[in-house]
Order: sequence, then C-alpha cells, then structure tokens
Amino acid sequence: MGKTLDIVAATASDYRARAERRLPRFLFDYIDGGANDEVTLAANTTDFSKIRLKQRVLRDVSLIDTSTRLAAEQVRMPMALAPIGLAGMMSRRGEAQAVRVANNAGIPFTLSTVGICSLSEVKDASNKPFWFQLYMMRDREAVKSLLQRALAAGCGTLVFTVDLPVTGMRHRDTRNGMLTNSLVGKVGKVRQLVVRPGWLKDVALGGKPHTFGSLAALVPDATNLNAFRAWIDAQFDPSVTWSDIEWLRSIWPGKLLIKGILEVDDAISAAGIGADGVIVSNHGGRQLDCVASTIAKLPAIAATVGAKLEVLVDGGVRSGVDVFKAVALGANGVLIGRPWIWALAGGGSSGLTDLLATFQREFEVTMALTGVTRVSDISAELIDSAG
Ligand SMILES: Cc1cc2nc3c(=O)[nH]c(=O)nc-3n(C[C@H](O)[C@H](O)[C@H](O)COP(=O)(O)O)c2cc1C
Repeated sequence: MGKTLDIVAATASDYRARAERRLPRFLFDYIDGGANDEVTLAANTTDFSKIRLKQRVLRDVSLIDTSTRLAAEQVRMPMALAPIGLAGMMSRRGEAQAVRVANNAGIPFTLSTVGICSLSEVKDASNKPFWFQLYMMRDREAVKSLLQRALAAGCGTLVFTVDLPVTGMRHRDTRNGMLTNSLVGKVGKVRQLVVRPGWLKDVALGGKPHTFGSLAALVPDATNLNAFRAWIDAQFDPSVTWSDIEWLRSIWPGKLLIKGILEVDDAISAAGIGADGVIVSNHGGRQLDCVASTIAKLPAIAATVGAKLEVLVDGGVRSGVDVFKAVALGANGVLIGRPWIWALAGGGSSGLTDLLATFQREFEVTMALTGVTRVSDISAELIDSAG
C-alpha cells in the first residue's frame, strides 16, 4: 500500500504523488527520471533548497507587483511552462489543456517539437501567442516548414534546445522495458497498463490521436517509446554547431532563446550569434549526468551576459520560493517542467490551475517577507550567506 493521498494537493510534490497513482509506471518514470545515476536530477532540487533568504521587516509591502516581461511579453510572474514532449500521453490532449491554463495564469506556454497536439490545435486552444521549442532535425526543409507553421500559429518566441545532440542514458526506461521490443518488455508494459484503468479510458482511448501533432507526417506512432527513441536517434542532428544557429537566426524573425546553456563561454557564443536569450538548463537532469545544478551555474552566466541577453533558468524549480531565489541570483525568469506535467497528469486542468496559483502566491508572499514590492527590486542582496 502506498501513502494515503492528502485531501487537497498543495505542492508540486503532492501532484507528483497523484501522477504516480494515475499513470502507467513507464510513463510516470519517463517524466520523473533522469540520466544515469540521477546525480544532477537530485542536485537541481537540493541546491535550491540550500539557498537561504533574508527576512526583512517593516517595509510597507501592502502593494506587491509580481508582473514582469519575458521575451518582450508582459507576464503575471517571471515563469513559463517548459517544453515537455509527449504531454498528450500524460493527460488527454495535454498540450491544449496546458496552454489554456497558462493563458489564464498570465504566463507563457512552450509547445515541444514532440508534443502530441499540433501547432494548430494549440493555437486554437490559446487566446495569445505561445512559444515553440525546436530540436534540429537532419532534414532542414522539414525544419523550415515547421518554423513557418510556428509563425503561422502566431508563435513569437522560438526556444531552440541544444543539449540533446544524442539522448541521455535513462536507465528507468530500460528497466521498464521501454527500450526493447522483446516479449518480456511487451508483457511488462501490458501489466503496467491494466492497473491504470482511469488513464486507459481517459487518455489512451479518449485522448486520441496519439501522433506527434506537428510532425505527424514524419514520425511513427507516439505510443511506442522504443520507436520514438529510435526516431530521435535517427532524425535529430548531432552535427549541429553554432553556424546552424546562425542559419536559424537568419530565418526566424521572432525572439530566439537558446535552451541548454550551462557554461559561460557558450552563453557568450549565444550572444555572438544574435540570440535574444539563453535558458540555463541541463534538461532537468535527463542528459549529461554529474553536471552541476542549474541554480549553481546561473550566477556566473547572468553576471557575464545578463546585460546583453535575457537569462532564464530551469531545473529543480518546485515552488514560488524557488522562482524568487532564481530571480535573486540573476535570472529574468524560470521555466518549470515536471511540476506542470505532474499537476496536469495528477489533477487535470484544475490541478494545474491550482498549482500555478500556488506558485504565484508563494512568489508574492516571499516578496512580502523579504521586503520587496517589485520584481526589479529582487537581487542577490536578499540571499543570506549565513545559511
Ligand atoms: C518528461 C519530460 C519531457 C521533456 N521534453 C522536452 C522537450 O521535448 N524539449 C525540450 O527542450 N525539453 C524537454 N524537457 C526538459 C524540460 O523542458 C526542462 O528543461 C526540464 O524539465 C526542467 O527541469 P524540471 O523538470 O526540474 O523543472 C523534458 C523534460 C521532461 C521531464
């Protein structure tokens, strides 16, 4: 018997527990897991929790404004939803649900290249521009056509992910039989499915079609993680260099954010090719294990390129307090990955709505208790080195 669920989910980790109960094991682990020994996955969150803040009092915090700008858009708080592949396998038409919730919360949603819902389905669900994430594929004509469709769908910001020239070693997927076509793998998968009738009815049957919406013409069935992985290995282009990003810059008229930067030199190169921003990211600990946490890498990058580029960070942000810490350490804003997909998988649109409201409120309360009323007043002064 697992832990009894609380009556009301309050935090990202509460939604994680709900997602675990709702999803077949292989899908839960696909979200939850990281690369190799998951050292970086753990560091991303523990390093956030080690940061101490200063409690400051008697500063009139009756009027607090959490709004700011990200990629030239007005946002209600400095946070966006990170691209998550296969979101439509975790919750019925997951990307369309998430964009609606993000719209209402006043924050950007990023559609993954490998989303289940297509650009046009997300556009139809959305009442404002959303961000589109791109992986470079070998077929540059396919890339161009994807970007044209993103522009036509009203995407003003392109998030170009650079930390996946090859897929990281995710051992949970192997253990769950996801990377084998053997009989043992198939039987194991069926056993994981039959104990999740709610997901089977709502998502597996009710949430069809399960193709990669924006790539439907190119990719096999999205329900087979093994085939998905094989397709990525065959089609994602590991030969990409900065000159390809220059090409991308030349054909993309909107904002360009380079996602997956962890070193100062790479951030400087991103500024050199005319990117508008970088996302300090280690892909949520899913790619190179044993790299440092993103929050540890953020300050040096922000100090070096922050005057030229927008600097965002993701990895391990689990609350509005973490959002505050990231901004204090030099970020213009953060992206959250697992928290939003856990909430959507575990609690549907209302779960995600509640979780985003909690992040907003936590951020606001943290501002009040550190004695600041505007996002631009949040600085490293509010980090306590005594901790
Ligand atoms: C299940 C899952 C799927 C992801 N898919 C993508 C993707 O398609 N494109 C991408 O750029 N990043 C992808 N990421 C990485 C996230 O965008 C983000 O960098 C990461 O989740 C941030 O860490 P966090 O989960 O600790 O918030 C994925 C992450 C997870 C957990």
